[in-house]
Amino acid sequence: MRLPSLIVNLKNYKQGSGDRVKLFLDYALDLWDLGVGVYVAVPPLDLARYAGDAEYRDIMFSQVFDVVGYGSYTGHIPLERLKDMGIKYSLLNHSEYKMDHGKIRELVDAANEAGVETVVCVDSVEELNKLLSLGVRPKVYAIEPPELIGTGRSVSKYRPETVVEAVKIGSEHGVPVLCGAGVSSRDDVDAAMRLGVVGVLVASAIVKAEDPYVVMKAMAEVLAKHK
Ligand code: G3P
Repeated sequence: MRLPSLIVNLKNYKQGSGDRVKLFLDYALDLWDLGVGVYVAVPPLDLARYAGDAEYRDIMFSQVFDVVGYGSYTGHIPLERLKDMGIKYSLLNHSEYKMDHGKIRELVDAANEAGVETVVCVDSVEELNKLLSLGVRPKVYAIEPPELIGTGRSVSKYRPETVVEAVKIGSEHGVPVLCGAGVSSRDDVDAAMRLGVVGVLVASAIVKAEDPYVVMKAMAEVLAKHK
C-alpha cells in the first residue's frame, strides 16, 4: 500500500454503486500522479465487475472479508476468492460491520500470509489496545470514532487526542495509523496529517459531493504536501 493514503469508502451509497464506481476509480487513478496512494473501497456487489481491469484492481479495496477459504459459507466473502480475483487490499471491522476480535486475528493472519494487505478499523483507543494485545498486526489501523461518522465533523478536529493516542500506540507496535470519520475538507486532512496519521479514510464528503473529483483532488494534494 502506498502511503500516505486517501481511501475513499463508497460503502453502499447509491452515488457510489454500479456504473458510478468507475467514476471514482478513474478519479483515483488520475490522482496517483501526485505520488500518494488513492484507493477506492468498492461495494461488495461491484467488486467482481471491476476486478477484471488490472488498473482498477490495483487500487481497489474490498470493504470486508469474513471467512478465509472457499466452502460451505453461504453469503460470506472468502479471502481466497478475493485473492484469486487479484484484490490486494481490504478493510476489516468497520464500525458498520463489526467483528469478533478472535475472528479478526484469524483473518488478518491469513491475509498477511496470502499477501492481502488489511486496514483494520477500530472505534476507540481501547479497541486498538485490545486488538494489539491479541497480536492483530494489519498493514494499517484506522481510528474512526463512530459518533462522528457521516456528520461532517472531522475526527482530526473534534477528537484530536484520540488520534494522537492511537498514532502513539500504533507506532509502539510498528503499525501505522490512519483516521476517518467526518473528514470533509482540505483543512481536515491537513489537521489529521499534523497529528501523525499516514492518511485518511473518507466516505460521505466525497461520495455525496456535487463534484467528487474536486474534493478528492484537494485531499490528495494535502497528503502530497505532507509526504
Ligand atoms: O470508512 C469511512 C467512514 O466510516 C467515514 O465516513 O462519511 O464520515 O467520511 P464519513
